[in-house]
Parts: sequence; structure tokens; C-alpha cells
Amino acid sequence: MTKIKSIWIDNFKSLVDFKLEFTAFNCLVGLNGSGKSTVLHALDFLSQLMRGNLDEWLKVRHWAKDDISSKLTRKSNIEFKVVIESGPLGEIIWSGSLNRSKLRCTQEEITIRGTCFLRVEEGYLFLTGLFKYNELPKSYKVVWDY
Ligand SMILES: Nc1ncnc2c1ncn2[C@@H]1O[C@H](COP(=O)(O)OP(=O)(O)O)[C@@H](O)[C@H]1O
Ligand SMILES: [Mg+2]
Repeated sequence: MTKIKSIWIDNFKSLVDFKLEFTAFNCLVGLNGSGKSTVLHALDFLSQLMRGNLDEWLKVRHWAKDDISSKLTRKSNIEFKVVIESGPLGEIIWSGSLNRSKLRCTQEEITIRGTCFLRVEEGYLFLTGLFKYNELPKSYKVVWDY
């Protein structure tokens, strides 16, 4: 069974260097304004980021780009790491750094069982190893279309 083991997010609303480990049952308890809804927003944000339509996600919430980063830090990018346990593939780690004004990850990585096979950095997409298509070169560099 595939399941999310943990998430880490930094600079998303009131969540700064925030890690959540998932167990069979997680319960959010706290005073009003302590951040329960924000934790759910963070999960929703990450799932939308994976789908790739943050513009629309912000619009339906009437949020501006500036509303999603934390007022508690001076950082601009929102950083995240999601650890997924997938039966056949083992541990999958998706991490990245989202540029808030572009609403795009300027750095992003997917690691499967300890091997990084997809990396986006400085406008380049790097694909390495693990591909079943043997015609692909071992390290494959593509200009990212911003
Ligand atoms: N961009 C932001 N930066 C820092 N703190 C924020 C930001 N946006 C909202 N907050 C704070 O986060 C809290 C929101 O908590 P919320 O998740 O609604 O709490 P709960 O659901 O537990 O009542 C409030 O204290 C609010 O001031
Ligand atoms: Mg709430």
C-alpha cells in the first residue's frame, strides 16, 4: 500500500521548519489560531503543487501569492519534503523549493530508494538512471521551460 509517511514544510503561512509524521491515526488538537487548519492547508497545497495548478488554488481561496509564505521569516521560497512509502518502489522522497512569485519550483528532486532520478535546478531538468528506456543516456539534461 502506498502512503505518505511524513511531510516537512518551511515558510508556509505559520508553519516554519514544520514536520509531521503520519501514523495510523493523527489528531490535530490546539487553541484557535494555533495552526490546525494551516496544517490541512499545507497538505492541500502540496497535493495541488503536485498537480501543478497553484494559480487556480489561490484564486478559489482569495489568497494572493504573498499570503502563503510566512510572515515569521524573511525567506521568500517555500521549501518542502514529502516521504512516501510505496509498496513496490520502496521509499520515495519528493522535495523542493517553490518560488512564490513564479509559483514554480526552482529546485525539485525525486529520490526513489536512495537514488535521485529527477532533479530540477536553475532552469535545468536532470534525469538520471532508473529509466527502463535503454535509449536514454545515463544523465539527461533538458532546459526547463519557464
Ligand atoms: N502568512 C502567515 N504567516 C504567519 N502566520 C500566519 C500567516 N497566515 C496566518 N497566520 C497565523 O496562523 C494562524 C492561523 O491558524 P489556523 O490554522 O487558522 O488555526 P486553527 O485552525 O488552529 O484555529 C493564526 O494565528 C494566524 O495569525
Ligand atoms: Mg481552523
